[in-house]
Amino acid sequence: VPNLYVARHGTSVFNLENRVGGDSPLAQAGHQQAKRLAATFRDTPLSMVFTSTRRRTRQTAAYVLEAQQTAPPLYSMELFDEIDCGICEEMDYEEVKRRRPDVHRGRVEDKYNFVYPGGEGYRNMRARIERGVRKALYLSGGSRHILIIGHRAVNRLILSYFLYRRPADVPYLYIPQDRYFHISCAQNERRIRLRPLLS
Ligand code: F6P
Repeated sequence: VPNLYVARHGTSVFNLENRVGGDSPLAQAGHQQAKRLAATFRDTPLSMVFTSTRRRTRQTAAYVLEAQQTAPPLYSMELFDEIDCGICEEMDYEEVKRRRPDVHRGRVEDKYNFVYPGGEGYRNMRARIERGVRKALYLSGGSRHILIIGHRAVNRLILSYFLYRRPADVPYLYIPQDRYFHISCAQNERRIRLRPLLS
């Protein structure tokens, strides 16, 4: 794919409450960001849009599809679902610290290798995300413009698929909700740029 765009869903209700996981809808600010994402891509004919199966990514995609001249097909894939926080699903970060100090400590000490009890970790999620990326690239054939709307941990792993990052750094990559990554490949040179949304 010459141009792969990787965006995060707009701010969700759980994002505002600092809660992990779950399936909350976009918050008001998230709807605004999704509209800006849609406006940013209005004149870029997307041939496919990929999301996870979560509401927040699908709601974000709905704005993007709506703004396109010809709505591209949408693929909502479990392969792009956010990290499964197991027993900590829907807790906020303070709660995790208080109720499961072992989890908090484990993540501070080695976030990349840590696995949420009953859930996933960055390291063991990697194969799933790689399968998702390969499937998306395969489905899109030689399309020129592809957009993936993912999640924080998911997008960290997608970026590290295209550009090597030390594993220990991956769980700390900055994945804002009001910008997107543009991954391009021309003359065998791969570039990743962090770009602003139209305001
Ligand atoms: O807070 C949003 C979120 O996508 C959670 O669902 C997820 O657990 C978290 O971000 C991943 O980021 P971190 O690994 O830094 O907690």
